[in-house]
Amino acid sequence: MPLAPFRIGPVEVSPGLVLAPMSGVTDAAFRRLVRECSPGAVGLVVSEFVSIEGLTRRDLKTLRMLRYDPGEHPIGIQIFGSDVDRMAEAAAMVQETGVDLVDINCGCPVPKVVKRGGGAELLRRIDHLEEILRAVRREISIPLTLKFRTGWDESSIVCVDVARMAEAAGVQMVTVHGRTRVQLYAGAADWERIAEVKRAVSIPVVGSGDVVSVATARSRIERGGVDGVAIGRGAMENPWLFAQVAADLRGEEAPAPTVSQRFAALRRYRELLDEAYPEKVTSARLRGMACRISRGFPGCGALREAVSRTRRSDELLEVLALFEAGEAMPGKPPVVTARSAA
Ligand SMILES: Cc1cc2nc3c(=O)[nH]c(=O)nc-3n(C[C@H](O)[C@H](O)[C@H](O)COP(=O)(O)O)c2cc1C
Repeated sequence: MPLAPFRIGPVEVSPGLVLAPMSGVTDAAFRRLVRECSPGAVGLVVSEFVSIEGLTRRDLKTLRMLRYDPGEHPIGIQIFGSDVDRMAEAAAMVQETGVDLVDINCGCPVPKVVKRGGGAELLRRIDHLEEILRAVRREISIPLTLKFRTGWDESSIVCVDVARMAEAAGVQMVTVHGRTRVQLYAGAADWERIAEVKRAVSIPVVGSGDVVSVATARSRIERGGVDGVAIGRGAMENPWLFAQVAADLRGEEAPAPTVSQRFAALRRYRELLDEAYPEKVTSARLRGMACRISRGFPGCGALREAVSRTRRSDELLEVLALFEAGEAMPGKPPVVTARSAA
């Protein structure tokens, strides 16, 4: 099945599998974990969205979101906001970090973002969006990309118009999430609309929405006729998914990760989180990942229960070690035998 490498200006995306930007998820730790679980199979990673307001105020927490590891290339940083000048200033700050591209968010449905004119609200103000794109284009020399939804709602589908306008304004790749803003994450992503965008422009088009397995990747690539696919929620449960899809595209089969590979990934994720966050954040993110990554293997219900009772990450790793050794989960009531009851 075809999914040839593609270029965004000087940046080669090979294979055409992109880690989708996800707020609160695709920080450096997660991006590195995915690259390590799927070596050579992630063509591009994109950061979680970063506020232009925070960036241009030099807010420390926001500036930290620009950090990445040299091994993460090619990498894009996504920014969101609405003010034209600040968008251009923030894009220049992003370029300064040495990343490969700047991506602009035009799809976030969250009221806090939309009310301030950013994210999917820009789909209702295409002239303003064009002004932003042209200002950012003038400000940076690295590739500029845009990610958007199909429209605000079913009665205002604008993805083809937005893609054409973006191409004319100097955008070098678009990612289309096949849902409207009003849909949020409900229903299925509409890959026919993504295919329409692909037919309408000559820059690379990446499709996004519901690629969660080898089978869904295969069917969406065929349906969308796209240059690449973005994987979001699927990677949260299965950071090996890129390797599995890449193998499938080569006509091979990548085996599912074993329990011990999954636990090794969790231990590695803890190290990566530790580099960036205080223990409280590390343990919360690790708990979430442990629950997602353990889905589907025997005894995972008890494991998840035990994991969710842990408070610190070293406690969580102990639970994993006990589980791996086939011992009882801590916190489970002890087995009462006739002798102990006596
Ligand atoms: C938790 C979460 C956070 C997200 N944050 C962003 C974001 O910061 N920027 C963005 O463009 N899209 C964001 N998205 C949308 C995803 O990039 C993607 O387009 C969408 O989830 C559909 O793809 P999927 O089915 O592979 O998850 C987010 C999605 C989720 C689930």
